[in-house]
Order: sequence, then structure tokens, then C-alpha cells
Amino acid sequence: MSKKKWTAVDRYINETLLPHDPALDAALAASDKAGLPAIAVTPNQGRFLMIFAQSIGARSILEMGSLGGYSTIWLARALPPDGRLITLEFDPKHAEVARANVAHAGLADKVEIRVGKALETLPEIAAEGLGPFDFIFIDADKGNYPGYLEWAVRLSRSGTVIIGDNVVRDGKVIDPNDPDPSIQGVRHMNEIIAAESRLCATAIQTVGSKGYDGFMIAMVKSKD
Ligand code: SAH
Ligand code: DHB
Ligand code: MG
Repeated sequence: MSKKKWTAVDRYINETLLPHDPALDAALAASDKAGLPAIAVTPNQGRFLMIFAQSIGARSILEMGSLGGYSTIWLARALPPDGRLITLEFDPKHAEVARANVAHAGLADKVEIRVGKALETLPEIAAEGLGPFDFIFIDADKGNYPGYLEWAVRLSRSGTVIIGDNVVRDGKVIDPNDPDPSIQGVRHMNEIIAAESRLCATAIQTVGSKGYDGFMIAMVKSKD
């Protein structure tokens, strides 16, 4: 099986099950035009995230890593009218593109984009009492996933779902000696999760137009 086939199947799924979506198409086009890397979640993954957040009745969502706001738009659409999403982005240019895309999608009133290193903005969010969040999507720099997971637990309640993107990376995650800090970051995060009695977690391998990767999915059991 090849990436060519995974891409064809992704295309089939998206054409068959996902209606044409001008706001999301425009977000990708604007991101591309602004020179952002094409590393957003795929349409079918975006809808998976939306269904997941909506199915748990999420009213507050936290995202780490906005890029051009593509996953942000999917997740914000899961929110009820009074719902809120905060997304954290280091690169001011990415944040600017995301802000315009979110506004164009009609979601500006629900979404706040905080610019800065997430490990610096997360303590501010906690200090401002903006948690707990119902759904948390971790998708910023993978080397900092251990810290992001710890903040996610701190900003959660019993029942919060935490999803982490890019936890398989072509299977590289199984190599304890891989020098890539992204791989070490994911492995260290998994060790923290395994030792964290408040979490019930799994990971699911995925293939598609963005290659062979996976999602970590955790639920906060209790906070005692
Ligand atoms: N969630 C997006 C993709 C995010 S890509 C989507 O699927 O549509 C990862 C993003 O994390 C990039 O925009 C990158 O600039 C950002 N990032 C990298 N380091 C960061 C940090 N320390 N804090 C916050 N964001 C960071
Ligand atoms: C890459 C993919 C991602 O989904 C991400 O969040 C960051 C980087 C990549 O393929 O490099
Ligand atoms: Mg990602």
C-alpha cells in the first residue's frame, strides 16, 4: 500500500462524505498563498475532530498550534452559540492568517488566538482562570508535547478529552534512539500519560494524503 493509494482513498472519502465547503477551502488557499506549510489536518481528520468535540458537548476548547486556523475552524464549528475556543500560535504570521481565515468562516466571535510560545501562554490562561476546557487539541511543536500534555491535564476536568496529532510519524515513534526531538517529545509524552493515573489513553494509527501518522486520544478520568 502506498501514499498514492491513501491519497486516492482520502479523496474518495472527502468527495463522498464531506460536502463542498467554501470557508475551509478558502482557509487552505489563503494559507498556501501566504506561504504557510501544508501541514494542517486533512478534511476527513478535521471532521473527525469536529464530531468528537461535538459528541462530548464541548463548550470550551483549547488548541495548541493554530497554523492557518484550518483545524481551528473545524473545532470551533463543534461549539454551541456561546462556546469558546482559544488557540495558541507562536508565529505572528501564522496567527494573522489564522485570524483572517477564522473571521472569513464567521467564527471570529468564538475564537481567540493567543500569539506566543504555548509554554508561556498556557500559564497565563491558567492564571486568568480560563479553564477547565472540555476538549484539548495538541498540535504545536512536537518536542514540547510533554509540557503541553501536563498543561492539558492541569486545564482539564473529569471527562475532558485530549487529542494529540502526529504521534506516529511514519512509525518512527517506536525507535527509542531516534535523534529527532519531535519523536523524543512524543515518546516522553506517552511515558507521562502511561504514568498518569488520571488519564485513560490510546493511540490510533492513520494513513492518508498526509502520510502515515496517528492520533493520541486521552480522557481525564478523575482529578483526585
Ligand atoms: N493545528 C493546525 C496545524 C498546526 S502546525 C491544523 O491542523 O490546521 C503546528 C503549528 O504550531 C505551527 O503553526 C507552528 O508555528 C506552531 N508552533 C510551533 N512552535 C510553537 C510553540 N512553541 N508555541 C505555539 N505554537 C507553536
Ligand atoms: C507536520 C505535520 C503536522 O500535522 C504538524 O502538526 C506539524 C508538522 C509535518 O508533516 O512536518
Ligand atoms: Mg499536526
